[in-house]
Amino acid sequence: MRLRSGAFLLFVSCFFQAVAAVDRPPVAAIASAHPLATQAGMEILADGGNAFDAAVAVSAALAVVEPYSSGIGGGGFWLLHRARDGFEVMVDGREKAPLAASRDMYLDAAGEVVPGLSVDGALAAGIPGEPAALDHIARYYGRLPLARSLQPAIRLAREGFVVDARYRKLAQFRQAALQNDSQAGDIFLQAGEVPDEGYRIVQADLAATLTAFARFGTAGFYRGPVARKLVDGVRAEGGIWTLDDLRQYRVAERVPVQAEYQGLRITSAAPPSSGGIALAAMLNMLANYDLHALDSVSRTHVIIESMRRAYRDRSIFLGDPDFFPVPLKRLTSPAYAGQLAQSIQMDRVTPSSSLPGRDSSSGGRDTTHFSILDGAGNRVAATLSINYPFGACVVPAGTGVLLNDEMDDFSAKPGVPNVHGLVGADANAIEPGKRPLSSMSPTFVESDEGVAILGTPGGSRIITMVLLGILDHAAGNRPDSWVSLPRYHHQYLPDVVQYEANAFDEDGVRALAALGHNLKQLDSGYGNMQAIYWDRSNGQVYAASDPRGVGDSRVGLFGRQ
Ligand code: GLY
Repeated sequence: MRLRSGAFLLFVSCFFQAVAAVDRPPVAAIASAHPLATQAGMEILADGGNAFDAAVAVSAALAVVEPYSSGIGGGGFWLLHRARDGFEVMVDGREKAPLAASRDMYLDAAGEVVPGLSVDGALAAGIPGEPAALDHIARYYGRLPLARSLQPAIRLAREGFVVDARYRKLAQFRQAALQNDSQAGDIFLQAGEVPDEGYRIVQADLAATLTAFARFGTAGFYRGPVARKLVDGVRAEGGIWTLDDLRQYRVAERVPVQAEYQGLRITSAAPPSSGGIALAAMLNMLANYDLHALDSVSRTHVIIESMRRAYRDRSIFLGDPDFFPVPLKRLTSPAYAGQLAQSIQMDRVTPSSSLPGRDSSSGGRDTTHFSILDGAGNRVAATLSINYPFGACVVPAGTGVLLNDEMDDFSAKPGVPNVHGLVGADANAIEPGKRPLSSMSPTFVESDEGVAILGTPGGSRIITMVLLGILDHAAGNRPDSWVSLPRYHHQYLPDVVQYEANAFDEDGVRALAALGHNLKQLDSGYGNMQAIYWDRSNGQVYAASDPRGVGDSRVGLFGRQ
């Protein structure tokens, strides 16, 4: 018996050494916001695809079954890690402002923002980047043809998916705008009403558009009949797209933002996302404290104060780096964060009004995130969006493509909050061909002990959710804890701490209020985090989907090629 267990231990230790030597996870994992999208990714892994092929499949499937969150009429950021050489890149498929866009396009003659103009209707739509990004990922990083990875999405569009409670809630929220567009109303409503649970949403035009994309690649979307129908449909509804806009769209490869926190290497989204920079800034500030040694109120206080300062910088300095010189080095430097941390007082808040700058945002029912690890150790963290739920609520006739309203992520006018409550400055002013500033923060966290892949939707609250997830990881907890822990958020302006019902107990609320925090408990939870952790020390892979959503996380023996 002793000998047998000794032999077993020897085997186990040899196995761990083998795992460490080849640095491969024992299984693949996918966590996404919808079971059908996770299944689509697993199908592609089982067919010999790698994490990048699976990312194409999951993105396209989400475009069909989560029409309120993302789509081929939208964009996103795909953070990739290639195991073979450790290469990391962010594929930037963010929407761009049309070439006819102008700084004051959402203002009236008196210079005031016209309510809703950058949110509902064709004028709100930026030029989509998701199809170009999927083609790029399949072409340069995948193993399978684009057409193969799009198959599950085409099938789902053709055969339909079933309405659930989440769909109903978001369709109710956007019902009036959906009713205003006959195509969008026909597809996503039933005789103008929100369909019952169990109703099947079939998207025949979207299946045809995805098929054209599968056959011809980007030319099947950005040129030819689909492009013409998109432009005609947009212009018929007051939009300003041209065929040139679509023809000229290109993805960008960005160097991800890197930071270190307590021995963890954080890799996250680069501008035009504010996510990586704000995360780096907050973690660099928090590195000046021994968070574990602080009592829970003091710990929460310094975390909130770091959020306030990072979001203040977001509102002033961040925008599309192709148009604005984002001071990335300074904002992510520990020395600069040290100066900011010095201004944090332990016995009271720093009112946002005493920090010169401009406003920030909220939001959280839109956008989507998924995380993938394949058996070779390739990984993807991707956050995708059409902005507000169901985007602009416009579908150009004959395309099935639901348009984004990502133009609202620009600053329509300095100091005037957007639909997420965010404010901005010149860095994020509208210019032709420019990408609007985003909060999407697909993130990897790595150390010798393991690799985490995480992200979430949630408008401006995305970044603080990912921060809380990273801090929870640093405290030794696993994905099921990161995705479910109670959340709180501060974004500089409004000067309010938003928090989920169970984030603080009564004593905590009293103590934070005594420090001067203006606390607002939210009616419902927010976010929909999808996370994976590969623990290199025990060879286990853990995946978890946020209990606030209907997501599905699975591990499987695929993708070890
Ligand atoms: N549309 C949400 C974001 O990009 O932050």
